[in-house]
Amino acid sequence: MGLFSRNKPNDEPRPPADGGGPTKEAVLQALRQVMEPELHRDIVSLNMVKSVAVCDGIVKVAVELTTPACPLKKEITESVEKAVAPLPGVRQVTVEMTSNVKAVGGGPPRGMAPGVKNVLAVSSGKGGVGKSTVAVNLTAALAGTGARVGVLDCDLYGPNVPTMLGIPADHKPEVRDGRLQPVAKHGFLSMSIGYLMDPDQPIVWRGPMLHKAIQQFLSDVEWGDLDYLVVDLPPGTGDAQLSLAQLVPLAGAVVVTTPQEVSVVDVRKAIAMFRQVHVDVLGVVENMAAFVCPHCRHETKIFGEGGAEGLAKKFGIPVLGRIPLEPAVRAGGDEGVPIAIGKPDSAVAAAFREVAGKVAAALSVKSAWALPILQ
Ligand SMILES: Nc1ncnc2c1ncn2[C@@H]1O[C@H](COP(=O)(O)OP(=O)(O)O)[C@@H](O)[C@H]1O
Ligand SMILES: [Mg+2]
Repeated sequence: MGLFSRNKPNDEPRPPADGGGPTKEAVLQALRQVMEPELHRDIVSLNMVKSVAVCDGIVKVAVELTTPACPLKKEITESVEKAVAPLPGVRQVTVEMTSNVKAVGGGPPRGMAPGVKNVLAVSSGKGGVGKSTVAVNLTAALAGTGARVGVLDCDLYGPNVPTMLGIPADHKPEVRDGRLQPVAKHGFLSMSIGYLMDPDQPIVWRGPMLHKAIQQFLSDVEWGDLDYLVVDLPPGTGDAQLSLAQLVPLAGAVVVTTPQEVSVVDVRKAIAMFRQVHVDVLGVVENMAAFVCPHCRHETKIFGEGGAEGLAKKFGIPVLGRIPLEPAVRAGGDEGVPIAIGKPDSAVAAAFREVAGKVAAALSVKSAWALPILQ
């Protein structure tokens, strides 16, 4: 039976024409008290309230976030409920969350990855710190929130992304209408420099060749519409970083380090390089942070501690997360199922989801200037 199909006796007070409860204007007025916790502005003037419906004391509010990976979803939902519930006549508040990812700085220029809203670089000072592991799991965690994501492997020294995704290293991407087709697996797209290399024929990559390859990956790959394209770069401060930064405006960079001092020294250089080419470093991910013994839960800090914190302080950037040293991470990489997907209930998967949330939130804040501000 519908809400209004009930025949009420004549003496029972009838609901007003709008079905009872507060007016939409009253609800909107109340929603002006709800602050977006990171932008410190109310959700109405930020144009995040997409619709308000009131029917027989039931209030439905549709809120549009700037990323489905928003870590503040729950907080915003609760604030909306708290603001609307006390209004006279409200029996129930329902909050519906949708998202529409905005491009930082307007996104890549025409011709370069035309449907990609945000290109994100993952880099490190040195190899072997878990850069590809972080790139792949960050991609998986973002995709898990419903975002449209791709990962581009530009690490010519170790194009490991195909292996980590369970795609044969000799895979040759399909070409359709002169455009390279990325591989769809695990809910996101991927493309790797490995597909262009003959595993038995080492290529000496010179700067211009690498530049051309990265350019092709951006302009000739059918990425379609993506919210985020995560780029796995070679370690250090070489040609790939510079080419990428020259070819597309990067929404931001994430640097990966272990807690160890040598790794930290290298990463300091990587941060300085990004800053020199005007790429915003969103933060640092500390990988192989501590080993928790599966038997006694004792924590051992195999690679030391505090490195990421020191960097974060020195450069005024946040620590985006700490990924424990955990055999299942390596196993997931070797078996081609990223741990963020293969073991979603693990502490490591949760740590990757936290990194994804922080990265997405940082990009949302950066893109916020593009939102129409309503008065
Ligand atoms: N948190 C972790 N716990 C356990 N093994 C890890 C972790 N992070 C990375 N590894 C493993 O360490 C090796 C190097 O990681 P990789 O992501 O390839 O590093 P990079 O891309 O920086 O060279 C891989 O075998 C990977 O599976
Ligand atoms: Mg790698």
